[in-house]
Amino acid sequence: MDTNALSADMVLGIPLFDEAHAALAEQINVLLEGPDEEFEENLAALIECLEDDFRVEEQLMEAIDYPATRSHREQHARVLATLHGLAPGDIDAGRKVAALILPWFQVHLATADTALAIALQIAGRAHGAPAGQDDVPAARLSPRRRPIPHLS
Ligand SMILES: [Fe+2]
Repeated sequence: MDTNALSADMVLGIPLFDEAHAALAEQINVLLEGPDEEFEENLAALIECLEDDFRVEEQLMEAIDYPATRSHREQHARVLATLHGLAPGDIDAGRKVAALILPWFQVHLATADTALAIALQIAGRAHGAPAGQDDVPAARLSPRRRPIPHLS
């Protein structure tokens, strides 16, 4: 399994999700490969990106009264708790945790997020509108991202 990027078969076909997930993969790579002196800033950016992505998903779950909301939210919460629990300045531990996030994310994408995407598509067909995209304010449709110094 490629742990450095999302493969083409990992996209869900929902632009909102796919863009957010691509941004997360990019943030993880920046954290892993960036200089030590930028680690804390890059970690904060990754956490912010994850929180934004998870928030949008959770709002969509609520909008369609998704039956697996609790278990899906628990998966999000565990990742965020792990990242928030990192000791400030412990770059080695932070990189080890960050290296595990993308493989976790690929499994999460292939299971929980795919199931949610299908539920949203079904709900969208039932209501005659693109699933979930009419229920979320436009500002939430694109993940907030910090500029990445070496990529901009
Ligand atoms: Fe998710």
